Amino acid sequence: MTDLRPPLSETPPTDTDWSFETAAVQTGIPRGLGQTVGIPIHQAAAFQFATLEEAQDEFARNQGLSYARLQNPTVRALEERITALEGGTATVALASGQAATMTAILSVCRAGDHVVASASLFGGSAGLLNNILPLMGISATLTANTPQAIEAALQPNTRLVWAETIGNPAGDVPDLSALAELAHAHGALLGIDNTWGGVGYLCRPLDFGADMVTHSLTKWAGGHGAVLGGSVTVGTHHDLTRNPIYTEGGENSILNVRGEQALAWRQRWLGAHQLGMTLSPHSAFLLAQGLETLALRLGRESETALALAEWLEAQPQVGRVSYPGLPSSPWHALARTYLHGGFGAVLTFEVPDPAAFLSRLRVIRIAPNLGDTRTLVVHPWTTTHGRLPEAARRAAGVTPQTIRMSVGLESLADLQADLAGALG
Ligand SMILES: Cc1ncc(COP(=O)(O)O)c(C=O)c1O
Repeated sequence: MTDLRPPLSETPPTDTDWSFETAAVQTGIPRGLGQTVGIPIHQAAAFQFATLEEAQDEFARNQGLSYARLQNPTVRALEERITALEGGTATVALASGQAATMTAILSVCRAGDHVVASASLFGGSAGLLNNILPLMGISATLTANTPQAIEAALQPNTRLVWAETIGNPAGDVPDLSALAELAHAHGALLGIDNTWGGVGYLCRPLDFGADMVTHSLTKWAGGHGAVLGGSVTVGTHHDLTRNPIYTEGGENSILNVRGEQALAWRQRWLGAHQLGMTLSPHSAFLLAQGLETLALRLGRESETALALAEWLEAQPQVGRVSYPGLPSSPWHALARTYLHGGFGAVLTFEVPDPAAFLSRLRVIRIAPNLGDTRTLVVHPWTTTHGRLPEAARRAAGVTPQTIRMSVGLESLADLQADLAGALG
């Protein structure tokens, strides 16, 4: 009988010959008569089997299509695209960036384990590490974003070192190669939240030794402020032989049964299959479409952000401007080592009276998001980071005067005029 089930993509998950721009528009779309030119939406909760044997086989292997909490062709096409752009081997797409962070951490930690993370993390990630994971017996130390401080915080039970490609909102850039080396020497993995790295456009942490990268796809992947999503992508060389989650159970250990796919398998099993933080096919479609223009958007937004950072630095009313593209940034040298194609679309700056400044903006909007086509600002001290203790807010690079700005696609002239008007 003809198999009418929608095919999973026949495109190889990573085509190393393709540039970012080509992979962003071509990956995940099967070729052939009657195939759609773009990624289609498979709006379905379940997929059919022709025989009981087929159903039994799929339930035993969990690798194809059965129930959409586990796998859906539209979500799968997005996953293949992200894998190609990040230079990884497998991706699981999930309902939000927060779901991705949780899945990544739980994939290598269980009760009694420990995480070392940079203190300049996004507030939601710091919240997971400080408040939610301790409920499961997983502890964390948040420390300065330097190899020395992170090494000093390692414990015998540390399974994961965690940082962001560019800290939110401090703009700090970790020494990825050094962190990978010290995590691996300790038998731990290095996980990087690469949200600000633009799904590999500005940075591919896996190329510098990271073992997994996560994204809030809500940001530059979606790119239009219209959809939530997250992803975890794994690389090739992660060593799980010192992590009991993977080695316990003798012949039936995850490592023994799943081999090189062990980490990716556990992430899909945890995030989608068991916890149900599954991405909807409609969101996957929007995110995959967003990826097609990411290079154009983030390239242009990074140029505008650099020009605005330079201009703001020259304004007498403006305090500290933090942007890794500025030579004045303490992280400029690391940014030049690890970022390419720009220094990102986000900068922070200090103004004497944030409330008055924000009330005078006419183009730029106040909203807690990043990576939108529109330029957005927030006052992190009282909003995104408002629930953290004061010391943690300062450690994350936030002061009462800080404004965080995610630069969009408006003209540089209009944005500069808006900022000048608001500065008075
Ligand atoms: C760096 C970073 N990681 C993770 C998240 C969480 O993503 P989401 O809002 O999609 O859950 C955010 C959200 O702002 C973020 O900025």
